[in-house]
Amino acid sequence: MKLCMIGVGYVGLVSGACFSDLGNDVICLDKDNEKISKLKKGIIPIYEPGLEELVKKNYKSGRLKFTSDLKYAVSKSNVIFICVGTPTKKKSNAADLSQVYNVSKEIRKYIKKFKIIVTKSTVPVTTGDAVQNIISKKIKKKLFSIASNPEFLREGEAIRDFNYPDRIVIGSSDKRTNKILKLLYSPLISKGAKYINTSRRGAELIKYASNAFLATKISFINEIANLCEKTSVNIEDISIGMGLDKRIGSRFLRAGPAYGGSCFPKDTRAIIETSKKFNTDLSIIKSVIKSNKNRSKLLLSRISQLLKNKIKNKNVCFLGVTFKANTDDMRESSSLNMIPYLAKKGAKIKYYDPTGFKKEFKNIKNVSNSSDIKTACKDSDLIIIHTEWNDFKSLNFKNIVNRKNFIVYDMRNILSSEKMKKDNIKYFGIGR
Ligand SMILES: NC(=O)c1ccc[n+]([C@@H]2O[C@H](COP(=O)([O-])OP(=O)(O)OC[C@H]3O[C@@H](n4cnc5c(N)ncnc54)[C@H](O)[C@@H]3O)[C@@H](O)[C@H]2O)c1
Repeated sequence: MKLCMIGVGYVGLVSGACFSDLGNDVICLDKDNEKISKLKKGIIPIYEPGLEELVKKNYKSGRLKFTSDLKYAVSKSNVIFICVGTPTKKKSNAADLSQVYNVSKEIRKYIKKFKIIVTKSTVPVTTGDAVQNIISKKIKKKLFSIASNPEFLREGEAIRDFNYPDRIVIGSSDKRTNKILKLLYSPLISKGAKYINTSRRGAELIKYASNAFLATKISFINEIANLCEKTSVNIEDISIGMGLDKRIGSRFLRAGPAYGGSCFPKDTRAIIETSKKFNTDLSIIKSVIKSNKNRSKLLLSRISQLLKNKIKNKNVCFLGVTFKANTDDMRESSSLNMIPYLAKKGAKIKYYDPTGFKKEFKNIKNVSNSSDIKTACKDSDLIIIHTEWNDFKSLNFKNIVNRKNFIVYDMRNILSSEKMKKDNIKYFGIGR
């Protein structure tokens, strides 16, 4: 099939590369010219395991193309995926849909024959209706159809998630559209992915409800971890014991810092705004948002306690600063709260992240990036394992830290507390 992905971010680039790998002709378009020229040179603007090889292979084959020319991209494609960002609005908690609406206005100029326009971006329920209205102002109804196909991939595992999704959700009531989209996904369906056809609004809401539920699971286990700490129970036993119940499931039951990333925080906020619009009270999701905010504060107060409330001039090392492992994405990472707070209190912070320097900390006094783990840890009073990269799982801290009484605070429970005890290291985890 001939496809076009508008917005070459985490979702557009990964799904574009994967669709082309399945044998489709894919044009990836972004208004960011720098991104497009980098991609044409084989430079991948984001870190996602396996993506570079996949992009290079399919670009070389000619099936994957990059452009900023919208007229070309629309006229050459039958199916157009909108994959632009839907961040939180500046002055409210609602999703900012301006990128989606701008794209809708821009593409309608070039629709001359039938096109399927698919929102892959996460958009509040009824956004598809609004996109339909925008396009139908200039284009005859028979020349286009609007479908919703929310994306469920996880950063860090995006290629695997795309190729082996739990489910593919298509929201459309148009027969022709459903037939074409099902055919597009048939290689994944034949490998076992469940295919669900629902209304467009239904598909939009499935995405928000799923993200809100996952955020709830994380906040739930984080709060149970607090109780574990008070009662000398190991949270891992609870996660395993609960997760084995098929009605609950083991995934997203690992206690850690406040959830972050480009989806859960903004999507939980946005669904609350949507519920207000439709006069419905989503009280559970509201308390999840509150719980997650409290989590950030709680972990900061734990850090203060570990340093006996003497943060000034303490050397603090962060291992990993992204919101989770295997991504370079800093959006709403809990380190964005922690590092500036501790720096303001006078801590001297070094951080190491496998994906390198982060511009977010560039202008913060007393915060510096180290290009290797040893330099980052060397003079530390406190080492905070903030993300669960494999790189941090077998470090010998005794060999790399110069200080005697340093503390390790493992916010992901990736180290063995028994081993740390044996090595005589002051070690704290979450809910342990
Ligand atoms: N990142 C994830 O893990 C993930 C997973 C599932 C769903 N989503 C959803 O997918 C959407 C995209 O997320 P993302 O993380 O890929 O965003 P992103 O910010 O990484 O990428 C969006 C891209 O769209 C481009 N863009 C914006 N306006 C444009 C326009 N008018 N024309 C062409 N390009 C334009 C931007 O330049 C940018 O490159 C969001 O709605 C998000 O909630 C994200």
